[in-house]
Amino acid sequence: MKNYNWAIIGTGRIAHTFAQALGGCEDAVLYAVGSRSEDKAKKFADEFGFEKAYGSYRELAEDKNVDIVYIATPMSSHYADVMLCLENGKNVLCEKSVGLSCAQAEEMVAAAKEKGLFFMEAMWMKCRPTYLKAVEWLKSGRIGEPEYIKADFCNLVEYDPDDRLFAPQCGGGALLDLAVYPLTLASDFLGAKPEKIISSAHIGGDGVDLSNSIMLQYEKAYASINSGFEIPNRNNAVISGKNGSILFGDWFFCTSEVTLLDRDGKEIERSVIDNRINGYEYEIEEVHRCLNTGSVESALVPHSSTLAVMRIMDKCRSDWGMRYPDEKS
Ligand SMILES: NC(=O)c1ccc[n+]([C@@H]2O[C@H](COP(=O)([O-])OP(=O)(O)OC[C@H]3O[C@@H](n4cnc5c(N)ncnc54)[C@H](OP(=O)(O)O)[C@@H]3O)[C@@H](O)[C@H]2O)c1
Repeated sequence: MKNYNWAIIGTGRIAHTFAQALGGCEDAVLYAVGSRSEDKAKKFADEFGFEKAYGSYRELAEDKNVDIVYIATPMSSHYADVMLCLENGKNVLCEKSVGLSCAQAEEMVAAAKEKGLFFMEAMWMKCRPTYLKAVEWLKSGRIGEPEYIKADFCNLVEYDPDDRLFAPQCGGGALLDLAVYPLTLASDFLGAKPEKIISSAHIGGDGVDLSNSIMLQYEKAYASINSGFEIPNRNNAVISGKNGSILFGDWFFCTSEVTLLDRDGKEIERSVIDNRINGYEYEIEEVHRCLNTGSVESALVPHSSTLAVMRIMDKCRSDWGMRYPDEKS
């Protein structure tokens, strides 16, 4: 099994969590970290044991020894960071949401395809064993045809104008940060192209959505989704069909528990799978599987799934009149 030289761009919250997971994966080498600040890069490299610390993203992208770059910057920076890495011949794992718009995501996918490089959205939920168990139950007909999904990702986040979550120039807002998970769930289990998308949002004074509510309507199914920074602890998901339901544990996108219920709500089967490290190891293992087999696209997180969700989010933002400063008109 080959070892891969990993590099991380950005040294914020999720970069720390991800570096911890990388440190526990045998075939991952903690090779390089890139920051806009050399001091931050050095501090991060020292903390986790990375070999190289770069004071710019470009220097990192130009390092010939990097095999794969994990991009952990705000959404507004993803497009430039992904393109920089692809132009320099690097495989890329990019945090969600991969861009501000579907157009940006399509350009990234096209560039990766043209260069024959691996590109995947870091949609870790789709690599987790509990999620895969739910997919297995669904495919084997355990709940019948799925007809209804209710999924929420809401938490209280104190307003901080300096936090990327609230900053339009960083691609802030609950839609791209939170709703991307329940929308991915719905898109996976009910279909990539809903017939109708009905949504509304509470847009804050800074111009990004603080909360939103989205309904996806399909020919014979629908999904009801809420996400936001204004309501505490609503992070559940359930998928129902005529014969039963699949109930995810709290924090559905990263839960270690998923339960199969019959049509009366009685438990039939429960799957509990604890993390080996911190839960991000599954997406790292998926990246390694792809690189080992020379696949440029993950079967667990295919480009089509990423693009389908970006398309739905475009429609929501368009209906809300919410545009990011850097977006072309
Ligand atoms: N998978 C998950 O569970 C998960 C969880 C949280 C977040 N995320 C995703 O990860 C990405 C980063 O989120 P985060 O919460 O880690 O963000 P964060 O704490 O704000 O960190 C982002 C980092 O990006 C760099 N950066 C580049 N341009 C920036 C700018 N204009 N403003 C601020 N920082 C900038 C900074 O690193 P340098 O200063 O070192 O360059 C900063 O530390 C987002 O796409 C988010 O959706 C995923």
